[in-house]
Amino acid sequence: MTTVFQPGNQYPVLLGPLAETFPQWMAQRKPSGVLLLTDSNTRQHCLPAFLQASGLSADTPVVEIPSGETHKHLATCTAIWEHMLAAQLDRHALVINLGGGVIGDMGGFCAATWKRGVDFVQVPTTLLSMTDAAIGGKLGIDFQQVKNTIGVFQNPAAVFVDPVFLKTLSERELRSGFAEVIKHALIGSAELWEMIRHFDPTQLEACSYEDWHHILRLSIDVKVQVVTEDPHEKGIRMLLNYGHTIGHALESYFLETEHPLTHGEAIAIGMLTESWIQHRRMAQPLPEEWVALLLRIFPKQAIPTGIVSEIWQTMLQDKKNKAGSVRMALPKNRQLNMEVLEPLESEVQEALDAYNASTQLF
Ligand code: GLY
Repeated sequence: MTTVFQPGNQYPVLLGPLAETFPQWMAQRKPSGVLLLTDSNTRQHCLPAFLQASGLSADTPVVEIPSGETHKHLATCTAIWEHMLAAQLDRHALVINLGGGVIGDMGGFCAATWKRGVDFVQVPTTLLSMTDAAIGGKLGIDFQQVKNTIGVFQNPAAVFVDPVFLKTLSERELRSGFAEVIKHALIGSAELWEMIRHFDPTQLEACSYEDWHHILRLSIDVKVQVVTEDPHEKGIRMLLNYGHTIGHALESYFLETEHPLTHGEAIAIGMLTESWIQHRRMAQPLPEEWVALLLRIFPKQAIPTGIVSEIWQTMLQDKKNKAGSVRMALPKNRQLNMEVLEPLESEVQEALDAYNASTQLF
């Protein structure tokens, strides 16, 4: 039951059991050497199953880095490059990134810059990376608290998505990735929306392998359509950033506190508040069903009052901006149509006040 996608006819995204896909792919590829990148979580919880399914030998060199967004920076890249040097990786070698978005983005970046580029594959282990981060060739690291500021576009040689790893995730991590699934439904898939619109958090943990395969098939399809049309984010790919203009700024803010938000928690608030601004400008209410689903999966977080000027400074660094204006990309319907808005700082304040204050956002 493997589903194959081919973003831009450039590389395969193989959704299904690793044992059905990885060994054959490797037998054809025959790299001169292999380096497996993990973090402290994936080494413990995913590596044994990966080695068994992949057919790689148990003495494959494994690099372990500390887990978490706070390690997605240049010092960790230096450590990874040192391992590449020690392993004498030549240009015909292969880097295997076994992990979530941080491992995929940073491992891919290190591979793409090693000797001007060595092949890498993404083996995403989180819902977030399976549905979004591992696909589309965006690689990079954070810089001075601003997410993904240093990076490149470089496609992987292949992406192997096996929902088996979702069983290793906590409920909070599953919910985090589900924000990107909801995003894909809202921007480009009526079928996915129909499937998930009544979901609540308990259903996420109850999903079977087949349920996840179905959800991921529809969700990945949206991502693949977008990156095929616009691989370098000159236009419609900006829509994948729905919720991320305010969301990334909130994520960065909370990362420095004792209570960091997950990426999905921040992006859910971003989708609600960005859409609030869009609908207010049109003098229309936010669709009740969107709000209800997002607030069921992501119960409200208290946003401290008085942080908007700090958030705004982060938003001014957003990669979608042009000529000093902050830009947000929002869906016009579920058919990959986009509207780009330039919000004012005062509107962001009002949207966060609306999110904070009321029990209803519509
Ligand atoms: N995660 C957004 C993108 O790939 O463009």
